[in-house]
Amino acid sequence: MQSVGTMSVPRRKVLLLCLLMGFNIFICVLMGLSWKFRGEKGNKKIKIPERFWSQQVLSESFWNKEQQRLDFINNPLLSAVLANDSFEAQLDWLHDSGPHDPCKPDWRVATRISDYNILPRRFKDFLLHMRCRSYPILISQTHVCDQKPFLLLVVKSLIPHFDRRQAIRKTWGRAGVYANRNVAIVFLLGNTIPGDDLPDLQEMLYHEAKIHRDLLQWDYRDTFFNLTLKEVLFLEWFNKHCPQAQYVFKGDDDVFVNTLRILYFLEGLSEDKAKDLFIGDVISNAGPHRDQKLKYFIPKSVYVGGYPPYAGGGGYLFSGSLALQLYNVSQRVVLYPIDDVYTGMCLKKLGHVPEKHDGFKTFDIDEKYRSNPCVYRTLMVVHSRTPQEMLKIWPWIIHPELDCL
Ligand SMILES: *[C@@H]1O[C@H](CO)[C@@H](O)[C@H](O)[C@H]1NC(C)=O
Ligand SMILES: *[C@@H]1O[C@H](CO)[C@@H](O)[C@H](O)[C@H]1NC(C)=O
Ligand SMILES: *[C@@H]1O[C@H](CO)[C@@H](O)[C@H](O)[C@H]1NC(C)=O
Repeated sequence: MQSVGTMSVPRRKVLLLCLLMGFNIFICVLMGLSWKFRGEKGNKKIKIPERFWSQQVLSESFWNKEQQRLDFINNPLLSAVLANDSFEAQLDWLHDSGPHDPCKPDWRVATRISDYNILPRRFKDFLLHMRCRSYPILISQTHVCDQKPFLLLVVKSLIPHFDRRQAIRKTWGRAGVYANRNVAIVFLLGNTIPGDDLPDLQEMLYHEAKIHRDLLQWDYRDTFFNLTLKEVLFLEWFNKHCPQAQYVFKGDDDVFVNTLRILYFLEGLSEDKAKDLFIGDVISNAGPHRDQKLKYFIPKSVYVGGYPPYAGGGGYLFSGSLALQLYNVSQRVVLYPIDDVYTGMCLKKLGHVPEKHDGFKTFDIDEKYRSNPCVYRTLMVVHSRTPQEMLKIWPWIIHPELDCL
């Protein structure tokens, strides 16, 4: 008896070994196929799949699940393997196409998210409309990039912020006048809905658009959670009307930007660095906040996992060619309610890492330097500044007679 038992152990070992080797070969073939597949798309870089995108276990959280569905749809290789997998029964939702019109509220979310009913209103609004990415454009500009911009300034604003826009136009937004480079500017705006009880300023806005020809407005409700929508709608506009711009700065209407410093920096870039540039105040190793009281709160039922490195939304600088790639990849990333994290997710999917630059001060500078003209010379972006402060600081930037060491 004993001897029979010991005879079968090596046999089992051999079998196990063979199985392991077979599995390895299978993985190798898969990877080979995957590289070949990527190569055919004209992308010479071999991108090694990273953990963030390679969760194999079906997630319980809504955003993650939706992303897995998109990944599945967009990855024929994965679909082929999964299609005959033992998971098949669990994969019904992968084939889910949702409501016919992605812009109709998707009421099914109420049953798909365990704690939907107790989520704050803004989450319900976000989740119901998460799949819709197309909204009518109310004010467009097609001439902005007629002369190829070296730098396009893109400012996220809100309808009532007339004074902020005006201050920007008179200061850092008119940099082209001072530097020998073509600088263009657009402001991004959404709309209000009657239920928000906000005064109707649309006529004023049309008037402003006629005078300055720098406003872009879409017909969606302009809220914090819809900033991601602002991002993808802008990328779409950029792809169509400004793909030739060499660089893009995107930021809020309450940041002060030292445009001259940015132009100087860009002119000094090597060609290699310039193509895939993405710099800002980069935050790494962050993740969702779980405290209901915070502005950035995200419940576990919506998202699990860490955040990829991302640049704080106050302001970041990137190349036009990367903007085009972002537009492309954004169609394969499910909208996330925090816009700068979303951009980080898109970069991650492209295999890019945003770079931290000391000139971006999205958490302001030490109080004792705030009225020191020379300090602003070396900075690129400071958050936050009022329109009045912008008008005060700008002359410090453009008057070189000031003696700074
Ligand atoms: C999956 O199974 C179907 C039949 O059930 C078969 O026709 C197909 O070739 C299989 N695909 C793969 C990739 O094994
Ligand atoms: C985003 O805008 C759409 C369209 O106006 C609206 O239906 C939705 O409720 C908005 N979402 C949030 C979170 O405000
Ligand atoms: C966008 O992606 C498609 C394939 O997904 C590719 O054919 C196209 O060249 C890409 N465009 C850009 C600008 O990267």
